[in-house]
Amino acid sequence: MTSIQPLPPGSFGLPLIGESLNFLLDRNFANKRQAKYGSIFRTHILGRPTVVMVGPEANEFLLSTHMDYFSWRGGWPNTFKELLGESLFLQEGEVHRRNRRLMMPAFHGKALEGYFATMVELSQKYLQHWQRLETFTWFTEMKKFTFEVASVLLVGTQPGEQIEQLSDWFTTLTNGLFMVPIRWGWTPYGRALQARDRLLAYIETMIQQHQQTPTRDVLGLLLATEDEAGNRLSLEEIKVQTLLMLFAGHETTTSMLTSLVMALAQQPEILSQARAEQRALPAELTMAQLKQMPYLDQILKEVERCYPPVGGGFRQVEKPFVFNGYRVPAGWMALYRIDAAHRDERCYTDPQRFDPDRFSPERAEQRRYDYSLVGFGGGPRICLGLAFAQMEMKILAALLLRNYAWEILPNQDLSMRPIPTLRPASGLKVRFGAQPVSVAAASS
Ligand code: HEM
Repeated sequence: MTSIQPLPPGSFGLPLIGESLNFLLDRNFANKRQAKYGSIFRTHILGRPTVVMVGPEANEFLLSTHMDYFSWRGGWPNTFKELLGESLFLQEGEVHRRNRRLMMPAFHGKALEGYFATMVELSQKYLQHWQRLETFTWFTEMKKFTFEVASVLLVGTQPGEQIEQLSDWFTTLTNGLFMVPIRWGWTPYGRALQARDRLLAYIETMIQQHQQTPTRDVLGLLLATEDEAGNRLSLEEIKVQTLLMLFAGHETTTSMLTSLVMALAQQPEILSQARAEQRALPAELTMAQLKQMPYLDQILKEVERCYPPVGGGFRQVEKPFVFNGYRVPAGWMALYRIDAAHRDERCYTDPQRFDPDRFSPERAEQRRYDYSLVGFGGGPRICLGLAFAQMEMKILAALLLRNYAWEILPNQDLSMRPIPTLRPASGLKVRFGAQPVSVAAASS
């Protein structure tokens, strides 16, 4: 049945290298191919024949209805497997379901409430620090902030303590993910392996501390969790899952927060409406208040749509399938494109425009098609840290809007770079101060 269908349109490019160079060097490669061939096309990148699938229907097919046709594990390069270990990203089937179930409670309900005070405290600490700095590059600063939140709330590191050292190890580890795996000590990959070992040793020490004095951070909850069948995560598993969460949790949030403050600075009317919403609420920020900010929710959705930190996801095709009349053989890679789906004109009116009102209850454009907003993935493997990240972003945004002002400094390149997570090329250089006096004074 499947063999009579044609392969998707497209080209496999040159022998051996396929279209890898175009993919790596031309930021518009996928957009150009999509304009030429449509929303499903074939190519040959990173050594494998690949089908690129775009749109809400493709997202639903890959992430939900036909997810067992795909392997998550096969979608990640070997460097990820070695550097990030056998963690949730790579697990599949029953093992994945069991582990996800065990990890879920640390990211929902009561557990989240327990993180609120620390997130507020760290947000205030960084806001005051930025006020003292006056001018800085926000992507770099956001990274310090999100890494400290992640280290304190995921692993139980004391605020300020060792954060810089951990962050350096992490940067070294992340730099190895996209490198040729030559493992001598002085190569980027060799250094990444050393950094991984140091981070794992640190997490092990933290596990021992938690065993002596239980705490209510994510690591503490993972150590205590048991499902109805009495399953627990082994210590080895907790170590690699914690490493994965530190990795998955801070670069992405850094990217989205940087895009948020950039978009607000660029659209003064939206910024002032967001400020008005905050000022109508009682001055002291509480957990309950986070549910009373519909306009900020709309802005965050629009940032997710326009600036998704992760542009897409690879999977390995395990079973052949037909999609839109085209046959895709087993063994190929499949790429679902988050950024392109978010610009689909069937789903979103005037998709190039930054318009938070498209998510108002009256317009609710995300309801036109399921799986049209997938900045956090979708289906049974939707981002585990979604609620954690949203809470962290909302707290920082609410405090920023209430008390601070910022402006983008001139003469910088704000074009967006997609890898490893989306960011403005310059990192977003800003002048920052208490609202409204300091910025006005500083810029006069
Ligand atoms: C703005 C912040 C974030 C964004 C945009 C984001 C985005 C994503 C996306 C797109 C996926 C699915 C990838 C795919 O389909 O290939 C994912 C999965 C995941 N994310 Fe996030 N993420 C964020 C924050 C976090 C945080 C804070 C954590 C943990 C503390 C986290 C942990 C995970 C994990 C463990 C998975 C794998 C889930 C599974 O396979 O079951 N993420 N995330």
